[in-house]
Amino acid sequence: MKVLVTGASKGIGRAIAMKLQHSFDLVLHATTEDRLEATWSGLINPERHTRLCADFSDSDALKGFCSNLKKLAGASLYAVINNAGLTLDKSILFQPEADIDTLIQVNLKAPVMISKTAFKIFHSRQQGVIINMSSCVGETGNAFQCVYAATKAGLAGFTMSLAREAGALLPSHTIRAFCVSPGYIETGMTGKIPEAEKEKYMLNIPARRMGQPDEVAGVVAFLLTDEAAYINGSEIKINGGIV
Ligand SMILES: NC(=O)c1ccc[n+]([C@@H]2O[C@H](COP(=O)([O-])OP(=O)(O)OC[C@H]3O[C@@H](n4cnc5c(N)ncnc54)[C@H](OP(=O)(O)O)[C@@H]3O)[C@@H](O)[C@H]2O)c1
Repeated sequence: MKVLVTGASKGIGRAIAMKLQHSFDLVLHATTEDRLEATWSGLINPERHTRLCADFSDSDALKGFCSNLKKLAGASLYAVINNAGLTLDKSILFQPEADIDTLIQVNLKAPVMISKTAFKIFHSRQQGVIINMSSCVGETGNAFQCVYAATKAGLAGFTMSLAREAGALLPSHTIRAFCVSPGYIETGMTGKIPEAEKEKYMLNIPARRMGQPDEVAGVVAFLLTDEAAYINGSEIKINGGIV
């Protein structure tokens, strides 16, 4: 069975790809094949897996990605993990409209369109899993991340609705949809946060440390198993108990 992992070039997405490579045939995504190279060359058995790349900030590239996903994975698609995302931190006072469009396009529209593509396949097969990567800031908000937080909150609402819609459309099915909502995970994305800011964040985390990409990947891997069959329509928080 095939599993799509978007944003697999680094950080959380790469950790998910490494964790799932033995259990599934992966369709791995990044903006370009060059960007994906480090992950690809780290796979034990790359011939088992496929690359499908696109810059989601480009609407036509996103459309092409969705139709290629359908052709490539079709009926054998078991799950999509919409992990790709970006931050463009700035005060809303100075955030250019182009940044707002990019954040909405990559963090919200792309997972919505990919989920829609997958949902059509899952609907006819009455089975499948959609995991969307949200964020703790979608719930709490965060200064200088107004639009990023809005995309993550929007993604959570979309995902919970999807789980309910599967129930409304199909009386008997095993389609599950949920959000994974990390706190502060040590990746390139959080590497941009100044040290003084990070120390302030640590005070709000009972674990007093950032999470590791592997700690998110382990939960994602569990959510794809039959043991997680009764988890649906919820937001799974992985944040060290952040308050
Ligand atoms: N790290 C955290 O603390 C944290 C906390 C909460 C939520 N999250 C969420 O978790 C996900 C992964 O974050 P991360 O920390 O692993 O980030 P990361 O290390 O910066 O990786 C981001 C991934 O998204 C892809 N991506 C970025 N812009 C894209 C675009 N325009 N089109 C298509 N793909 C694009 C990147 O591909 P390229 O390499 O090709 O650019 C990369 O594979 C994101 O959705 C993020 O919002 C992260």
